[in-house]
Amino acid sequence: MDWGREAEDRLNRIARCSLPGAGITRFPFTDEHRAALEEIKSWMLRAGMTTRLDAAATLVGRAGTGDKVFLIGSHQDSVRDGGRYDGIMGIVIGSLAVEKLKAEGKDLAVAVEVLAFADEEGVTFPTALLGPRALAGTVDPAVLSMTDRTGETLRDALNRFGADAQGIAALARDPGNVVGYLEVHIEQGPALEQADAALGVVTGICGIERNTVVFEGDTGHAGTVPMESRRDALVAASDFIAAVHDSACRIDGLRATIGALTLHPGVANAIPSRVELVLEIRSLLDMDRERFAVDAVKAGAEIGDRRNVAFSMHRSYQQPAVPADAMLVDALDQACQSVCPTVPRLPSGATHDASAMADLCPMAMLFVRCRGGLSHRPEEYASPEDMAAAVSATAAFLSALAG
Ligand code: HGY
Ligand code: MN
Ligand code: MN
Repeated sequence: MDWGREAEDRLNRIARCSLPGAGITRFPFTDEHRAALEEIKSWMLRAGMTTRLDAAATLVGRAGTGDKVFLIGSHQDSVRDGGRYDGIMGIVIGSLAVEKLKAEGKDLAVAVEVLAFADEEGVTFPTALLGPRALAGTVDPAVLSMTDRTGETLRDALNRFGADAQGIAALARDPGNVVGYLEVHIEQGPALEQADAALGVVTGICGIERNTVVFEGDTGHAGTVPMESRRDALVAASDFIAAVHDSACRIDGLRATIGALTLHPGVANAIPSRVELVLEIRSLLDMDRERFAVDAVKAGAEIGDRRNVAFSMHRSYQQPAVPADAMLVDALDQACQSVCPTVPRLPSGATHDASAMADLCPMAMLFVRCRGGLSHRPEEYASPEDMAAAVSATAAFLSALAG
């Protein structure tokens, strides 16, 4: 079997489970999600796994017997107009690795579960990682009352989809039975391509936080209010955006992004009275990230005074940085060496389901080369050759678990 071509065929097929558009748009608890689960279920069944949908809408494929289990997974959802590989590739590679071991008649040392998490991107609700957090027992029940733009709560969305919001608390796994978690993921950056390496072993995942920032001034007629007496919220926000960007450029390894902004009243002939934006900050060093947020508040307050508009900033989400497990990293490195000549070790600037799984068990991630480092966009691409290497490395890693 050409495992790489098979992976590519499956990803091309599941790419149809998307809203129309240039890229993949597959949000959780939607018709597209339901159609994708049918595809993923067929992958799991072909690998000899049983399948079930858990209370957090995670599709769980299981092979092997016994209490001890090794988990492999990633997310089925995408960003809007995203790529064909982010998340879903980890699920297909995990399924194919189990299928490869079955085809070779190799027994699994422990049971293996492949997990298709519903919502990692956090595009629909102001929260994410419900699936892995449920397994880790770290879900804040309050998130179930969060609503999407239509006003539907996460609780109602889960129940409408056929999951069970009430049953989420009971999903927490016994850490004593979970050997570890591996997530195979497209790198989403240029490092492996620059190193001419098909695969890379992740050393740690950055921490992340999101802050809601609001500037409030006064609206008024664009043609009659004199410039010197305006309280223009967008001018203040623009100062803040530029200040935050320039400051982040001076801190090694830190990323600050303002990717979402709303404007009121948002018409050409009225002065903006209110701007709400999301400031996202990431770093492998939690201390740098937290210090940056404190400095951003100071900068915002100073700009608000200077522009005579009100300023507020509050953190709406955060995930600390998580190191990969040293033993799993070494085992993964060895498994990769059996397939690829050079296997770089590198940090992840993107966050993943593995960020939350690290609260349950030892975690490791395998990165697959990403053409041009392009991700969260339709041009995202991983080659069949590199995906074949990832299947073989993952299968070798699972085989070595026996030891
Ligand atoms: O934003 C991230 O890093 C991930 O793709 N959700
Ligand atoms: Mn993503
Ligand atoms: Mn992802």
